[in-house]
Amino acid sequence: MPPLSILALHGPNLNMLGHREPGIYGSLSLSEINRLLEEEASKLQASIISMQSNHEGVLVDTIHEALEKHQGILINAGAYTHTSVALRDAIAAVNLPTVEVHLSNIYRREEFRHHSYISPVAIGQISGFGVQSYLLGLQALVHHLREKS
Ligand code: DQA
Repeated sequence: MPPLSILALHGPNLNMLGHREPGIYGSLSLSEINRLLEEEASKLQASIISMQSNHEGVLVDTIHEALEKHQGILINAGAYTHTSVALRDAIAAVNLPTVEVHLSNIYRREEFRHHSYISPVAIGQISGFGVQSYLLGLQALVHHLREKS
C-alpha cells in the first residue's frame, strides 16, 4: 500500500479542549485527541500530522503548504466553519480531499452554527460524535484516498 500522509487541522479555541464547555465538547484535551488520531492512523497504515491555530491566516498558510506534504486534510475549523470564505477558498485551491469534522452536532445548536462554508468543498462531514467524529472522519478519508489510487 502506498504511504499516505494526512494533515489534521484544528481551528480556533480547540487548544482549550478539556477546559472548554466540557458538557458540549467532552473532557479530552487536544493532545489526547491527537494521540488517538495517531493510533488510528497507524492502524490504517497512514501517518498524520496535527496542527492547531487560532489565526485564520495561519490556517490558510498551512492548507497551502499541505499540497507539497500531504494527500488529504481532516479539518475541524471551529468557529471559522461558519465564517471563513478564506478557509473554504484555500481548500478549493489546493484541491486535496478534505473531511470536515465537529465534536458537537452543529445542527442541534444555535442557528448560526448550521451553515458551514467548508462543507461544499469537503468530501463529507461528520458532526456530533465527540472524538469519534475525528476517528470516523480519518477512516473515511483514508478509505477515500485508497479507493482513488
Ligand atoms: C465545533 C463547532 C463549532 O460551532 C464551534 O465554533 C467550535 C467547535 C465542534 O467541534 O463541535 O469551536 O467545530
